[in-house]
Amino acid sequence: MYKQYIRNLTVQNEKAEMASSGKLKVLLILGSIRDGRQGLRVAKFMRRKLVERNFDVKFFDPVEMNFPMVTKPVHFFGPERTNAPKILVENEKFVKEADAYVLVSAEYNHNVPPALTNLLDAFPGSAYAYKPSGLVCYSMGPFGGMRAAMALRAITGELGCLSVSNIFGIPTVQHAFDEEGNPKNDHMESGAKKMLDQLEWMAHAMKNHRDKVGLPS
Ligand SMILES: Cc1cc2nc3c(=O)[nH]c(=O)nc-3n(C[C@H](O)[C@H](O)[C@H](O)COP(=O)(O)O)c2cc1C
Repeated sequence: MYKQYIRNLTVQNEKAEMASSGKLKVLLILGSIRDGRQGLRVAKFMRRKLVERNFDVKFFDPVEMNFPMVTKPVHFFGPERTNAPKILVENEKFVKEADAYVLVSAEYNHNVPPALTNLLDAFPGSAYAYKPSGLVCYSMGPFGGMRAAMALRAITGELGCLSVSNIFGIPTVQHAFDEEGNPKNDHMESGAKKMLDQLEWMAHAMKNHRDKVGLPS
């Protein structure tokens, strides 16, 4: 009885510690720049889901940002970022500050759209490392962009922001949302929830550990 009481107290303390680690920062990255893209609808939906969970959300839309085709990643300008383009220097800060990433990706030729790899590659792996990512993929066909998600698993692994196991895949995306990103079927809510439950847990756990012991040298 007493042992159980102590165990409950410990769990409560751990939960309190987790909650006290503050608002988590999430960087939401949209990977499509195509005219008439479906991806913006998906990203609008995901932004709302993240805000509902009380995340501090920063949204990277390469179209809105007028993000260039990167001929030299920001870290290739040296530790002082001497003469690096302003757009890269300013946005590197958001990549570094984030506690987690949500990548919204279409599937192009069974792979990741070039706009997404262009954006991810612009920043060093160290800016993403020791944090989790969550994958949201979609396509017009029945497979929900899963092949792009598999390729993204390898990329996020290399960047050090491994993706959580649950992937939110959206088949026939053209029927899934209205223009404002309002979902047209129940799968959207449950699919997003499963992935975000894992992402939130991992983001808290990894932030707590980063704060407690720092990073390996
Ligand atoms: C260049 C290109 C390649 C595509 N390749 C695939 C593919 O391999 N698999 C698939 O399911 N859909 C493919 N599609 C269809 C996309 O799933 C669909 O156009 C989707 O809306 C793309 O996302 P976006 O609208 O945000 O650009 C492709 C579309 C484009 C433009």
